[in-house]
Amino acid sequence: MKVRKITESVIYVGVNDRTTTRFEALWPLPYGVSYNSYVVRGSQATALIDSVEGGEFRSLIDNFCDLGKLRCPDFLVVNHTEPDHSGSIPLLLDRFPQLMLVCNKISAEQVKGFYHVPDDRIRIVKDGDTLDLGGRTLRFVTTPMVHWPETMMTYLEEERVLFSGDAFGCFGALNGRFTDREMSSAELEVYFSEMNRYYSCIVGKYGKFVQAAMKKAGSLPIDYICSTHGPVWIDEKKRVLDVYDRLSRYEAEGGTVIVFATMYGNTAELVDRIADALAERGMENIRIFNAATAEMCDMITEAFLSKTLIVGSPTYSMDVFPPVQQFMNAMRVREIKNKVTATFGSFTWASAAGASLEKQFEAMGLPPVAQLSMKHAYSDGLEPAIAEFAEKVAAASK
Ligand code: FEO
Repeated sequence: MKVRKITESVIYVGVNDRTTTRFEALWPLPYGVSYNSYVVRGSQATALIDSVEGGEFRSLIDNFCDLGKLRCPDFLVVNHTEPDHSGSIPLLLDRFPQLMLVCNKISAEQVKGFYHVPDDRIRIVKDGDTLDLGGRTLRFVTTPMVHWPETMMTYLEEERVLFSGDAFGCFGALNGRFTDREMSSAELEVYFSEMNRYYSCIVGKYGKFVQAAMKKAGSLPIDYICSTHGPVWIDEKKRVLDVYDRLSRYEAEGGTVIVFATMYGNTAELVDRIADALAERGMENIRIFNAATAEMCDMITEAFLSKTLIVGSPTYSMDVFPPVQQFMNAMRVREIKNKVTATFGSFTWASAAGASLEKQFEAMGLPPVAQLSMKHAYSDGLEPAIAEFAEKVAAASK
């Protein structure tokens, strides 16, 4: 691998994973994912910042060895212990017998639990502590719950580099270029789109902690953001910070998302009629997902971005149809906010789904502005109710 120098003392040694199909066994990776690791060289010591998933250990070592006459790393800073970044820890400890892990109290407990790391291979640091590598100083900034309790960031003072852990990361392997400065705008758009998916699905529940972390790290002068996934951010820092700020405040971009399911097509026909009525009233950017066939990740992401969220379901065993319920669970877990909501239900002999959806949104603090119910199948008699439904949604979404 070519030497990927970021600053005088920082070198990228991360790896690409183009094999794993679902991150965390849940979220699709159409463009792969990178696990970023960085070397920081001081005159007295060398540190690795974050490691990589266990199966990618060989690539990490190859990248490290390609740097040539580099001293063996003295420290591995563990900003985050999720195994996509910590899986190589036991192999690194074997390979480099002098290597010490730099952990906070919580990450120390986690690496002991995951990998049985002995105490004498761990140096515990607290918020604000520094580590002098010889002319290069690492400062540790704890940023809990972004998105695990031990998450922290590491700041290289002399070169104003923030190693931010998962924060400001995105899906997408690195395709020959590793900083935003080298990438075309078309390449960057893929990463920004993947950032929406990454944030909404992985970090989405922890908005208030992201806000706290941004406030804390935001007080530092930053020239480079080196996260654990995706490009190194230099020129696009402001946009990246804006994306994380907006998403963690649940601020919508706009548009309407309709999530529904249908067993035999009757509810699908109702959805088309609703979409027609919304469009006639000037509502734009309407995205419709059949929860039984769409990717959960796409539905969650689009729900985060949308201003208006409409959910409908047939009644199934006196409840919400299971894939729609799964989507509602994802909204509840992520404490979704700042949406105009509306619900609709269909049924054959007993109505339950619509009322359940309504209650669920109310419990989330998002009471629906309109509800609609359909028995059996669409008929022209339903037109006035659909018109009223669309009128209310359009008015509330202005
Ligand atoms: Fe990239 Fe939370 O691990």
